[in-house]
Order: sequence, then structure tokens, then C-alpha cells
Amino acid sequence: MIEFKDVHFQYGSLLVLDGVSFHVNRGSTKVIMGPSGTGKSTLLKLMLGLLKPDAGQVIVDGVDVGQAKRSEMNDVRRKIGMVFQDGALFDSLTVGENVGYSFLERGGMPIDEVEAKVREFLAQVGLDPGILDQLPDQLSIGMQRRVAIARALAACNPEIMLYDEPTTGLDPVTLETITDIIVELQEKMHMTSVVVTHQIPDALKVGSSFLILAGGKVVFDGSAEALAKCTIPMVMSFLEPFKKTLRASFTSLHSELGN
Ligand SMILES: Nc1ncnc2c1ncn2[C@@H]1O[C@H](COP(=O)(O)OP(=O)(O)OP(=O)(O)O)[C@@H](O)[C@H]1O
Ligand SMILES: [Mg+2]
Repeated sequence: MIEFKDVHFQYGSLLVLDGVSFHVNRGSTKVIMGPSGTGKSTLLKLMLGLLKPDAGQVIVDGVDVGQAKRSEMNDVRRKIGMVFQDGALFDSLTVGENVGYSFLERGGMPIDEVEAKVREFLAQVGLDPGILDQLPDQLSIGMQRRVAIARALAACNPEIMLYDEPTTGLDPVTLETITDIIVELQEKMHMTSVVVTHQIPDALKVGSSFLILAGGKVVFDGSAEALAKCTIPMVMSFLEPFKKTLRASFTSLHSELGN
């Protein structure tokens, strides 16, 4: 569904991606991790076609993003829902207006129909439709993130969801809710997802495969099991602070699976 082939990218003289290759299979979830400033958000922007590679190819659902005409790129973007790093809701619009934004913008849909749609999408992310008239800053951060996911779903009925650090800054309970929503969307709607995160234990819960980016290169790309066994020094030092939780979540993951 998504493929990076030897992608190079730099901002001015700052080289960020130095030959990055990987793919994300249809219906799977790729978790992207790595130190701050290594280019994780940049990878997502390349997938959306907001940036173009300097060399190499970014292919999304068969379309080469670097070469695509504007109309082709619009078709690609219509398949992608994006949840930005800071949640990015419109502060001055109500929850209902935020989620229903794309319907309101397109026009033509009667307001009670828009409201029904909004209620449906709020329910999909486990939110009480009663919050429709509230403003984002009246909600907890966790609820704001859920509204952001609902808005991304409403915007285009996406086949691909990109999440940039969806759980950063959340308390453990809310964090789990967001993780569950990501898993549910994948299972129910067979969504292809890319999740950038620092929360390793939760990453294990959502990911079909894991990619670690560092120094402009892919230093690891593989399954959770391979990750736990990985002996590449850079990967080991990156995972070190999480080793305990990593082992613990493995044990619970395995007992959940019944082995
Ligand atoms: N528009 C820009 N112009 C110039 N440099 C940029 C721009 N956007 C990002 N950078 C730089 O490029 C590098 C990669 O940025 P990016 O945001 O992709 O990193 P990241 O892995 O998402 O980091 P974080 O974990 O902090 O979110 C960083 O050094 C950043 O400062
Ligand atoms: Mg980032």
C-alpha cells in the first residue's frame, strides 16, 4: 500500500533521510520510532505528498507521489486520514463543527444530516455525542485526540490512517483508549496505518511491524519478536529504557494469545 524506495530528503543543507526503504502492507500497521528530530514526521509528510523526495520514490497505492500530477495527488490524499502531532483542532469551532468540517465545507448536506454523521463518527471513537456543542479547550487532551481521529475519519472515509504521536502527553488510561481505537479501526475497517510513537509498550499492541529510524537510515524493520531479540547496538540502546516494560508486555501479549 505504501512503499519507500531509497528515499533521500533534505531541508536546505540539513540531510534528514539518507536512503530510506520500507513498505507497509495493505491492512497492516507500521509503527515508526526513533530519536527526536530523525525525520519521522517528515516520512508522514512525504506520504501525504506535502514534501517530495530529492531522490528515490514514495509510492502510495500505486501512485508515485514525487511524479504525480495534482489531480492524481488529490485522489491519493482523499484516501488518507491524518492525525497530526498536536491534535490540531480548530479552537474556535465546536466539536461538531470540527468533526463535520469537511461536510460543511463541501456544502449541500442538510445540517441535521451533518449532525447525524458527526454523532456517528464520535460514537466510533467512543465519545458521547452530547459533547457536540463544546469547544475543544473544554475537553481533556485525550478527548481532543479522539475528536481529531473522528475528524480524520469524517474527512475522507480513509483507507490509510497516519498518526503522528497520537498518545504523547496522555495519562496511562487515556493512552490505552487511544491505542484501542487504533487497533479497532484496523480490525473493523481493515485500515492500513502508520503510527509514529515514543510509547514503546503501546506500539507493541498496535504494530504489525516496527521501523526504527536513526541518523537518516532505517536501523531496524521487522516484527515485535525480532525487535525484542535485536542485538544491533543502536536499537538496543534505544530500547534500553523500555526493556522491562517490553518484556512485561511480551509476557502479557503471549498469555493473551494463549501461549
Ligand atoms: N520545515 C522545515 N525546515 C527545516 N528543517 C526542518 C523542517 N521541518 C523539520 N526540520 C528538521 O528536520 C529534522 C527532522 O524533523 P522531523 O520533524 O521529521 O523529526 P521527528 O523525527 O518527527 O522529530 P520529533 O520526534 O521531535 O517529532 C529535524 O532536525 C527538524 O528540526
Ligand atoms: Mg515529529
